[in-house]
Amino acid sequence: MKGFPSVFESIKDLSVPQIHRLLNLARTYKDQGLDFGQIPKPFLHRPLVATCFLEHSTRTMHSFGVALDHLGATHINFDAQRSSLAKGEDLEQTLLTLRAQGFHLAVIRTPISQQLAPFKSSPPIKIINGGDGQNEHPTQALLDLFTMIEIGMPLKNQTIAIIGDGRHSRVTHSLIELLPQFGCQIILCGPEEFLPQEPLPTGVQATSDMNEALEKASLLYLLRIQKERHESKINFDVDHYATQYGLNLERVDSLSRRVPVFHPGPCNIDVEISRDLIQSKYYFGHEQVKHSIPMRMAIIQAVLQNGEKEIKPFESFRTLDSLQ
Ligand code: NCD
Repeated sequence: MKGFPSVFESIKDLSVPQIHRLLNLARTYKDQGLDFGQIPKPFLHRPLVATCFLEHSTRTMHSFGVALDHLGATHINFDAQRSSLAKGEDLEQTLLTLRAQGFHLAVIRTPISQQLAPFKSSPPIKIINGGDGQNEHPTQALLDLFTMIEIGMPLKNQTIAIIGDGRHSRVTHSLIELLPQFGCQIILCGPEEFLPQEPLPTGVQATSDMNEALEKASLLYLLRIQKERHESKINFDVDHYATQYGLNLERVDSLSRRVPVFHPGPCNIDVEISRDLIQSKYYFGHEQVKHSIPMRMAIIQAVLQNGEKEIKPFESFRTLDSLQ
């Protein structure tokens, strides 16, 4: 597991061979079946891991928790609201405190984009990004790639349509870095105010024309409107959005080819997706959640066993001699 980042913040932190190793390890864990106690534990010493979710989460937080249990790690759910962060302590001091308590790794979700990036040069503890503001959600993108492969989807020359509020979506920012490396084209689709403003990577285009996106897509990836990240009041009407860009079973059924529908969750029913579509054969959201466990097991193992840049808990106890 050499060479994996100690602070895994972005898809850009990984090489393609490293991504293949994660996919292979995730497959091994998936094949072992995920019955508790059945999986051989990869660690000689039980790692101590804190999941620090400074923003709401259902899927990511619990998926990391379950993955850590499968790996035989000791896992503590850091309660941000009752922590000293609420008294004004900064994140670095919080993480150094966890390190002094013997923690090896923190999985962090933060509402602040790029809050974790400065830790790369001098990591206070090992870190996995569980989603930072609207910047990146690299473990979600990796589990999505893993799910696409496992459900039998070819990737080369396939077009993935990411529909919705791509501008404010960290999932989108990670997917557009990851998927083109595996031969996919991406078409981002949504109203003008939801399309990214920054230059797009090779293999990624943007359109407001829903029919164009639907015609080209081999997979539809739907997004929630990320209201909490809209800086100023964006002038849009939810009902109009739902009519233009929302998908229901009838619309997906009418497409000329059969396409799977992905969604990272949480879904806003009858905005971007209808209940009948969620209940249909096209919807793979639960497959994404299921595949999140073996993929996050692989990611945790890679970061903990990365070998090269060891960031160990503070081990020795200093005395006044250190002042000499
Ligand atoms: C996403 C998130 O929180 O970034 N969900 C997830 O982690 N599965 C997407 C969202 O909030 O819309």
